Amino acid sequence: MSDAASFSDDELRARIASYTWFHSMTLRPGIVTPGKKTVETLAAEEDALFSAVRIKGASVVDVGAWNGYFSFAAKRRGAASVLATDHFIWKHPDYRGRETIELARQVLGADISLLDVDPTAMTAKLGRFDVVMFLGVFYHLFDPIDVMKRMRAITSGVLLIETHQDALEQPRPMMVFYPGSTLERDPTNWWGPNPPLMLYLLLELGFERIEYRNHPVMGPSRGIYAAFLPGAYERLGGPFDAPWIGMTHPR
Ligand SMILES: C[S@@+](CC[C@H](N)C(=O)[O-])C[C@H]1O[C@@H](n2cnc3c(N)ncnc32)[C@H](O)[C@@H]1O
Repeated sequence: MSDAASFSDDELRARIASYTWFHSMTLRPGIVTPGKKTVETLAAEEDALFSAVRIKGASVVDVGAWNGYFSFAAKRRGAASVLATDHFIWKHPDYRGRETIELARQVLGADISLLDVDPTAMTAKLGRFDVVMFLGVFYHLFDPIDVMKRMRAITSGVLLIETHQDALEQPRPMMVFYPGSTLERDPTNWWGPNPPLMLYLLLELGFERIEYRNHPVMGPSRGIYAAFLPGAYERLGGPFDAPWIGMTHPR
């Protein structure tokens, strides 16, 4: 592929139009990728997520990065290093996600690394990261508990999770199973956990301090969690200027 940074605006628009996008990202002034997630939703998610961590100087991995919006945001906000990972959508013959993040990386001139690895294959051999972003992935996994153990293994500080949720009226920890294509006609959607399930699962995995907030646009149908290992909150937590609830340490 020729260097996309040298494309004319028309060449860039044509290349963008040849892909399906999930993230709406401004690659050049006036040139925005036509993502299913809007600029506004992404900006609100970004503000919500990054209000939970001090990202400056942190090592970051983005698990399930797709087009890379949150990887680029972490780098822009001062992360020392960012590793964007994915497999399903990067290798998907229709979505060709790896090409999309490579295009964006070149045009933005962003200093992030890419690695094709599925979350079901991640181990501590990948390294351990101050901040692990696990956004919009939990409910796509047939065995999310196994992958949560893997996320724990690669976290040295804080695990940020964004997920679809269900059983919100139930006080007991549980998650709903969606066989076949019963959730939004998407056969890759398997589970809808409720907040007590996420809280107790994270505690069982060794996280100590769990902070929660509803999604800034979609409300409680999606939840955002910041789970800190012992000692990590003091190093990486806050400023929590969004409506976060301390699940373990009520403020
Ligand atoms: C809804 S997108 C989330 C993208 C991005 N992290 C965000 O929050 O905007 C789901 C991501 O999960 C990844 N994924 C991992 N395992 C998957 C699986 N078994 N089925 C579908 N998607 C999977 C996809 O490749 C994709 O990048």
